[in-house]
Amino acid sequence: MALYSEKVMDHFRNPRNVGVIEDANAIGEVGNAKCGDIMKMYLKIENGIVEDVKFETFGCGSAIASSSMATELIKGQPLSEVRKLTNKAVAEALDGLPAYKMHCSVLAEEAIRSALEDYESRTQENALADRSSESLK
Ligand code: FES
Repeated sequence: MALYSEKVMDHFRNPRNVGVIEDANAIGEVGNAKCGDIMKMYLKIENGIVEDVKFETFGCGSAIASSSMATELIKGQPLSEVRKLTNKAVAEALDGLPAYKMHCSVLAEEAIRSALEDYESRTQENALADRSSESLK
């Protein structure tokens, strides 16, 4: 059996949604200290839906394939679904990863989680700013 599935090779060779979203309102960046790979996710969230998502991954082929697949899985999805995305689901959507490459899919889960945390902290800041401008009126 080939080490990597067709899907992994396809997403590695032709990654979807590569790049930067200039006006992203949720950005997550994570790294794996052991291999040194880094993944950055940019999300544009509107009305609770991921309207757009792009990524930059400085890492191995499995990390690139995982980021690409993860962006496809969350694009157009409500945040309630995005929060449920696990690295296992990413790996399954890629028709599996070798066991010693599973940690690469973990980066994708963590990058999205970190972007959602960023989004939540921005939303809270906006709510606080709104409240303080309200009280000035
Ligand atoms: S080897 Fe580091 S993410 Fe794949």
